[in-house]
Amino acid sequence: MLLAIETSCDETSVAVIREGVVLSNVVASQIRMHAEYGGVVPELATREHLRNLPPVTRAALSQAGCRSADLTAIAGTLGPGLPQALMIGTRAAQSLAFALNLPYYGVHHHEGHLYSPWIDHSPPTADWDRFEPNISLIVSGGHTLLVHVTSPLAHSVLGGTLDDAAGECFDKVAKLIGLAYPGGPILDRLAEQGDPKAYKFPRPLKNKPDFEFSFSGLKTSVRYFLRDNPAVMEDDARLKDLCASVRAAIVDVLVTKTLRAAREKNVRCVTSSGGVSCNAGLRRELKLQCDREGIRLQIATAGLCTDNAAMIGIVADKRRAQGLAPTPLDAEVKPGWQLDAI
Ligand code: KG4
Ligand code: ZN
Repeated sequence: MLLAIETSCDETSVAVIREGVVLSNVVASQIRMHAEYGGVVPELATREHLRNLPPVTRAALSQAGCRSADLTAIAGTLGPGLPQALMIGTRAAQSLAFALNLPYYGVHHHEGHLYSPWIDHSPPTADWDRFEPNISLIVSGGHTLLVHVTSPLAHSVLGGTLDDAAGECFDKVAKLIGLAYPGGPILDRLAEQGDPKAYKFPRPLKNKPDFEFSFSGLKTSVRYFLRDNPAVMEDDARLKDLCASVRAAIVDVLVTKTLRAAREKNVRCVTSSGGVSCNAGLRRELKLQCDREGIRLQIATAGLCTDNAAMIGIVADKRRAQGLAPTPLDAEVKPGWQLDAI
């Protein structure tokens, strides 16, 4: 059994995996605490990871019905993420591995996101048999990445964001219209009741042939729109139209580029994970476009879209199954680790 720890941002999570089967995946989210400050405060995140890690680890072991003596490997997120937050989980994983004399696997956080859409069934299991080469869209508060995944644990990055991530854009627009942090999910709910064609917002880089994204200009255009149309803020129906129109712009760019990548790389499967892949508009549009082109769509299940240790554990488990070497116990955290550098 493999125990995995994830502490790269504001979720403290520990999972236990047995040969691809997720026996437990406990997540303690700090989001309420950070909401008061309108964003993740690194010092507070670090303190909370320290506080949460022992009880979360105990809960993960107990839900999996195992004791530390049953473990055969330890894994943890080595990067990218908040430096001190990463350090808490990494040192805990390395110390456990040292104390129990077990191999340790340092995992890239985004590699976890690349394979979380393949965790399916009950109990959740990494379904490697159904794996197909795919284009993976990772969309969260910190990242927007398009990746060509050619086989389990083999991939190349096609592009990412030049400025704000898609989730960051959702959150910043939500803040402009007075929604609480993180505003992405609230904006999404309001958008469900609005008209996506009511207002026209730019689709940055949509028609450029590369796979780069840029969302900061979209946020700025919403700011100018509100300056010029202050009455929208006072009118519930028009505010919902605004949410729907902004969401449509973000989703249009994400889906257009993802499908273009699938065509260009000649793959018949698209996957998505990260907090923004919970977005109802994005899920619907991805499904529509993939169906139209006969492409299979695998989106991570709701609980596995956001950060969790199960996705870190299944990558380490796969590495072990493939006979790849463990990570040295004194490996340093890699806050700026690029996915292509693995
Ligand atoms: O993956 P995640 O939990 O954390 C990281 O950023 O690593 O993603 C959180 C982000 C936030 O920006 C949040 O607003 C966004 O995902 N998000 C959404 C939705 N649910 C979460 N954005 C748009 N629509 C949603 N339904
Ligand atoms: Zn993440």
